[in-house]
Amino acid sequence: MAAPDLFARADPSADGAFYVMPRKVVHIEAGAIAALRAVYARDLPPGEPVLDLMSSWRSHLPEAGLGPVSALGMNADEMADNPQITAGFVVHDLNADPALPYPDAAFGAVVCAVSVQYLTRPLEVFAEVGRVLRPGGVAIVSFSNRCFPTKAIRAWTLGTDADHVALVRAYLEGTGFADVRDEAPPTGDDPLFVVSGRAR
Ligand SMILES: C[S@@+](CC[C@H](N)C(=O)[O-])C[C@H]1O[C@@H](n2cnc3c(N)ncnc32)[C@H](O)[C@@H]1O
Repeated sequence: MAAPDLFARADPSADGAFYVMPRKVVHIEAGAIAALRAVYARDLPPGEPVLDLMSSWRSHLPEAGLGPVSALGMNADEMADNPQITAGFVVHDLNADPALPYPDAAFGAVVCAVSVQYLTRPLEVFAEVGRVLRPGGVAIVSFSNRCFPTKAIRAWTLGTDADHVALVRAYLEGTGFADVRDEAPPTGDDPLFVVSGRAR
């Protein structure tokens, strides 16, 4: 019997159809959002350009100290309604084309919140994240224990929280990031897992 494709999904259709309708909801509760914002406030390099990868209408970034924020996601209406996107956004399907439409070393930080489970070509995407970060720039990937199950990869839907942390660590370590670390800050509501690393 053939081994299952761990990067396949229950719904293999193109992502454009799934994300065509805006979803102006938050995907984690207030305590998890506050914990994520505190991680960003601690780790984002002050004043440097930020890319919000797999963005929507809220980015959970700190209110102060940010550089220009660019965004990439699947729904233009959502990103047009995001007050923290100050440097423009692109609609771009990373599963169709993992190449990021930005120059080398364009950002001091790339954040990817509660979305990494939808990537079917994660190593290609994280190699690109490393390319668009300046050397020493930080990638911060966060997730909880929720997902759209039909659109998450099988490795995610089959895995535990600990498996998810190990998987995302492997994405960063496997694409050359340094100083890869993980944490689970207390939230009071939804669990939050954060994996970060620095571009070389
Ligand atoms: C659960 S939402 C999270 C949105 C936002 N990051 C947040 O923290 O609320 C998942 C996001 O992943 C994005 N996404 C899903 N599949 C994608 C793909 N193939 N390429 C790019 N973005 C994708 C969607 O646009 C959506 O905004």
